[in-house]
Order: sequence, then structure tokens, then C-alpha cells
Amino acid sequence: MQKFIINGGARLEGTVKISGSKNAVLPIAVAAAILGDGVSVLHNVPNLTDVKTLSAVLEGLGASINRKNGSLYIEPINRMEYEAPYDLVRKMRASIYVLGPLVAKLGRAKVSFPGGCAIGPRPVDLHIRGLENLNANVDVKKGYIYAQSEKLIGSDMNLTGQYGPSVGATANVMMAATLAEGTTIIRGAAREPHITDLATFLNAMGAEIEGIGTSKLTIHGVKQLHGTEHTVISDDIEAGTFMVAGAITNGDVFVEGITHEQIPAVSDKLSESGVQLNWTETGVQVTTPKELKAVDVKTVPFPGFPTDMQAQMMGFLSVASGKSIITENVHTDRFIHAAELNRMGADIKLEGRKAIINGVSYLSGAPVMASDLRAGAVLVVAGLAAAGETIVSRIYHIDRGYEAIENKLNNLGADIVRADDIT
Ligand code: EPZ
Repeated sequence: MQKFIINGGARLEGTVKISGSKNAVLPIAVAAAILGDGVSVLHNVPNLTDVKTLSAVLEGLGASINRKNGSLYIEPINRMEYEAPYDLVRKMRASIYVLGPLVAKLGRAKVSFPGGCAIGPRPVDLHIRGLENLNANVDVKKGYIYAQSEKLIGSDMNLTGQYGPSVGATANVMMAATLAEGTTIIRGAAREPHITDLATFLNAMGAEIEGIGTSKLTIHGVKQLHGTEHTVISDDIEAGTFMVAGAITNGDVFVEGITHEQIPAVSDKLSESGVQLNWTETGVQVTTPKELKAVDVKTVPFPGFPTDMQAQMMGFLSVASGKSIITENVHTDRFIHAAELNRMGADIKLEGRKAIINGVSYLSGAPVMASDLRAGAVLVVAGLAAAGETIVSRIYHIDRGYEAIENKLNNLGADIVRADDIT
């Protein structure tokens, strides 16, 4: 295992270029590998362990995937396997994305049931309900989801769950519906930028999806999808993480390759807290001309404040003056990082779904542990602002979703070293 050794205190300055979106490329690669009838080429693909894990899942199904200079060349193979085994699926929940496309393409699928994870229970009932609405029979037996259908048939459904729209269920059902007979309407669809990018990609493959970017998607089924070429959108959460890193170090950072439309709520909250954001056509300049002040944040589906930025925002608010309250409405147990931030001198109390943050004047470096991707990211961000040395262990979580984060930060003037963790 590896760790980061961070010497805090440096003011970040310069330009950072944002990579392609992890949460967009995962379903897009699935669509290309399973639904397409020819080679697809994806550009701006981030070099992440999650992309490698998904590639292994798709290769296990029979696709052929090659990476060259930031692009993925994906060749679907005619005779695909219909089973995604536990060994591969357990490494990454997004493997569930193969379920809908496999049923649409092969008439059946057997996919290991993904488990919970460090951010709480993560059910897949909406994925299953959506596919059943499309005329699939779905069974859960011995740890596997079995789905089967002679012919998927379009239907009108609402996919909103207890916690609002589901990114994964929207993607899964939308992909399956592209090859169903007739028209499917998904109401209560997720509207995240990565869902929009997936829908745009599917249309480039020959799908007929209307209402892209809204909560009502209309999908007219087609007989066949072809391969295509696509440039993946930039990663809104990586961008938000660098915006926070610039702000918390009192820096002057240009975050390149992001638009305000991709990240409206995070921008608004940072501005409300006193961060100066100057948007240009190519990105945003982040500076902190005045004292940072407390703000309240509630995570909700897009276009609201994303749960995937909650941890980073908590680190940021831990040094903003006053009392902030963060309410986590999407992933109920996503607060493990609070205890690690407290070890660095933050003052955060948890009350159910709320974190109450009393801003402190400074954080101190400490040995801390990443428990998931974004919980790892906040520890790096906090380490940059903290006095002295922070050692973040279990950074394999961070490598799942941030491409070369230490190189990007060191280019901005940070002092981070990646080292083997031999303890
Ligand atoms: C996606 O996960 C992202 N992952 C997550 O990003 C992100 O946190 C999440 O969306 C919310 O934005 C990928 O895109 C690969 P959901 P997903 O279905 O699709 C409940 C990161 O840090 N729900 O939108 O699994 C669910 O429990 C990761 O990059 C059901 O109840 O999330 C949650 O409370 C972590 N039944 C809410 O809906 C279901 O069948 C939203 O989950 C499905 C979900």
C-alpha cells in the first residue's frame, strides 16, 4: 500500500488542467463495449484504477479495450459472455452498469450483487424495478442478479427513489431502453452532467433520446447501435476539489476545463463563503481575497450540491470562521472523514445526517487514513492547509478517482510525496 506525505502550508498558485469525468466514462465505456456493433473511441479518458477495473470487467465479458495517449479504443466482440462474476464486481460497484446493456443485447445477464461500502448501504432496487418495467424478469439468488427477457419493451416509469433520482438506475435503464421495442419514458431521471454525457454518447451511437439534461427522458428504441467517437466531459468533482484546494490554501489557482453549468451549487457555496471565482470561457480563477466564513450546505441530486463534494467542503469549512451545518441527504453514512479531520484539529460534531462544524483558526498535520475516495481527497486538501506534516494512508482509494493528484498539486506549489507504506 502507498501513502502521501504532505508538508502543509504552501499557497497554491498556477493552472491545473482537469481530467475527463470518472463517473461519465464508466457507463460510456459499458455502452460502447456492450451495446455498440462496432469500434468506439473515447478521448479524454482519465487514467484511474476505476477505469482499469471496469476495463477488466468488460474484457471478461469479451470486449477488447486498448488505451493509447488518453484514449480508449473499445471493440465489442460478437459472442459476449453474459456473466459478470463476484471477483470483478466486488472491486467496483459501477460494474452494475453492465446489467441493463447485457439484457438488451443478449437477452440475459448474470451480475454479482454489489455490496454496501464505506459510504453506507447502496441498494439496487431502482435498477431492478426499471428493468422489470422494460419487460425483463429479474431474480436475486445466491448473491447474483439474474435478468432475462425475450424482448425488452418500452414503458413509462418513474425512477425516483427514497433519496431522489438515482444516477446508476437512470444510466442502466436508459442504456437498456435504447434497444427496447417502442418508447420508454423515464420520469424522475437523474440530471448529473455525467448522465447528460452518457445520453449524448448514446445518441451519437444511433440512439434516439430526447429530454437530455432534464428529469424526463424519452427514449425511442432502435434496432442497432454503432460505434462512434466521443470526447468525455471534464470531471466536475475533480474540478471542485481543486477549487477547494486553491481556496483553503489562500491560493491563486486557475482550474482549467470546467464550466459553471457543470458545478453551479459548489460555485455558489464557495462564493457565499468569501471565495472569489472569476469564470472565463476556459475555466475559473479561484482566489480568496477576504476571510472565509461559515455556510450551510445540503447535499441533493444535481443541480444541487453534490454528495461527492461534501467531504471536501467539510474540510474547507473546518477553517472558515463561524458555525456551518452540512446535511447529507444522499448517502446516509458518508461522514467517516469527520473523525479524521478532528484528528487534525477540526471541531466537527455529528448528529444523524448533520455535521456541525465550528470553524477553527488552523489545522495541524497528523497521520490520517482515507476510508473512501472523497474522504481521502479531503484529507489531502486539509493536509495542504495544515501546519506541519500530514500522512495520508490507504491512498488507493484516492487513485480510484483522481489522476495523479500529487503531480497536479505539486505543479501548483504543494509539497506531496507518494511513498510505500510498509507498516
Ligand atoms: C453515483 O453512484 C456515483 N457513482 C457516486 O459517486 C455518487 O455519489 C452518486 O451517484 C450520487 O451522485 C458513479 O457514478 C459511478 P445513486 P450511484 O444511485 O449511481 C439510493 C464518487 O465519489 N438508491 O444516484 O450508486 C442510494 O442508496 C461516487 O465518485 C436506492 O435507494 O448512486 C442513494 O441514497 C461515490 N436504490 C441515492 O439513491 C437504488 O436502486 C442515490 O444513489 C439506487 C440508489
